Amino acid sequence: MIDCYGVFGNPIKHSLSPIIHTQFAEQTGLNIQYDKILAPIDDFVHSAKSFIDQGAKGFNITVPFKIEAFNLATKLSLNAKTAGAVNTIKVNGNELIGENTDGIGLVNDLTKNLSINLNNKTILILGAGGATRGILLPLLKQIPKRLMIANRTASRAEQLALDFSSHGKTCGFGLDKIKDTPVDVIINATSASLDGKMPTIANGVANGAICYDLMYGMQTPFMDWAKANNAKMIVDGLGMLVEQAAAAFEFWTGKQPNTQEVIKNLRG
Ligand code: ATR
Repeated sequence: MIDCYGVFGNPIKHSLSPIIHTQFAEQTGLNIQYDKILAPIDDFVHSAKSFIDQGAKGFNITVPFKIEAFNLATKLSLNAKTAGAVNTIKVNGNELIGENTDGIGLVNDLTKNLSINLNNKTILILGAGGATRGILLPLLKQIPKRLMIANRTASRAEQLALDFSSHGKTCGFGLDKIKDTPVDVIINATSASLDGKMPTIANGVANGAICYDLMYGMQTPFMDWAKANNAKMIVDGLGMLVEQAAAAFEFWTGKQPNTQEVIKNLRG
């Protein structure tokens, strides 16, 4: 018997998830099929339900369906609830359990693969959209000294900081209010790179910092900026991609894959 899983998105052509999950299945000796599924922009729910009817055990959800997946789930983990979005669903009889592994994926890449201790560190996140909301709780669980959210639209950063203030020390402000003094970690969670842009912010903040871009598969303007401004370490989001997949795989199968091996293979 082969267990069926997949990833829904639009577009989905370039997704690396099938390669990653196939390697996880080989490592753990499980018989799994993992497909890319292009759902119509206005009909994710129908596509997901027909996949479930075909006997799927679970699936991942990527852009732009994570909020619809949140609404489709019949039960939510705390991570999914606070993220307001679901990237993983486990089918359990009639129950659809929604989880969000994005933040766990980022934290595992930083702390395990890159050996970065986030406890008592100052973290600056650029952006206050869905990507930021998805990573905040797992980051705050590391108990940083301070977690700052800076956004082009200041009010969105202020609101997000307020929403998460019961989970740790958060503050939110406009990108123009970033101070010219170094922080420990900067995370780019804006979608500015998609337009080939790096927001103009105080350059000194990157001096000696670890600069992490959630994007992968390209040298982003943020990474160029980090290099030009003496960052200590510059990382793309490929490790996070593999780690979020591993957390989903474990959620479905109970098996923990070897992520470092898969990251090494993908980096070629
Ligand atoms: P996602 O789910 O990827 O987070 P989103 O919710 O649309 O997508 O959020 C995109 C984020 O990137 C926002 O924080 C956005 O800033 P605004 O809230 O001011 O729109 C940020 N962003 C997008 N393009 C940007 C740019 N050129 N410069 C600065 N920030 C940008």
